[in-house]
Amino acid sequence: MMHKYTPLTDALHDYMAGQRSRADDPVMEALRAETMTLGDASQMAISEVQSSFLTFLVAAMRARQAVEVGTFTGSSSISIARGLPADGRLVCFDSNEQWTAIARRYWKQAGVDEKIELRLGDAARLLREFKPEFPLDFVFIDANKDGYDDYFEALLPHVRAGGVLVFDNMLRHGEVIWPPEKQTVETRTIDRLNRKLAADPRVESVLVPLADGLNLCRKL
Ligand SMILES: C[S@@+](CC[C@H](N)C(=O)[O-])C[C@H]1O[C@@H](n2cnc3c(N)ncnc32)[C@H](O)[C@@H]1O
Repeated sequence: MMHKYTPLTDALHDYMAGQRSRADDPVMEALRAETMTLGDASQMAISEVQSSFLTFLVAAMRARQAVEVGTFTGSSSISIARGLPADGRLVCFDSNEQWTAIARRYWKQAGVDEKIELRLGDAARLLREFKPEFPLDFVFIDANKDGYDDYFEALLPHVRAGGVLVFDNMLRHGEVIWPPEKQTVETRTIDRLNRKLAADPRVESVLVPLADGLNLCRKL
């Protein structure tokens, strides 16, 4: 098979990050700077290009009702909320009060706080009780990796036909193709989920190499 892709270098990545709408975004830059002060944890935030991609996708789908699992300091939630119309709604699930307090401040600064509701606590427990008022158009999953499949199963029945679910970190920095005995438990879980989604008759899925890999699923 001919492999048709362009390997990324840091310079090429920076080029991509520079050549997009709203590349200079003072709110996101301030959020990124504050998130960096958290040290290693800061790496959990989505990348700048992922951020633009989420806004683009949500707007292109004309999504109104969205859910996010894994909010951290707010990069992805701001990106999703920006793609929603003024009366759109994003429900965020996260268990960490300290990190989401930062998100709350930046939702205000970005002018999207009216669209977002935060539910604090363990997502598996909260999602078992979750009954959205309207069918969901868009779901973004970026929390504990061992919970991804449960979040998928809990949310899929609430997603409308044609709605989209996006999972982050689905390449696990390349570890998904390592021999199973060398993979972490988390990576084996993600590998299983990629395979399940590819074969699942309820969705159409495609794995794209944006940042650490996004798995995009459209409910059939
Ligand atoms: C990778 S970070 C999310 C990054 C975020 N999407 C962003 O763009 O900044 C993962 C988040 O999942 C949350 N989390 C981890 N386990 C959780 C659980 N069991 N229930 C709810 N949230 C959880 C963490 O508190 C953390 O904020």
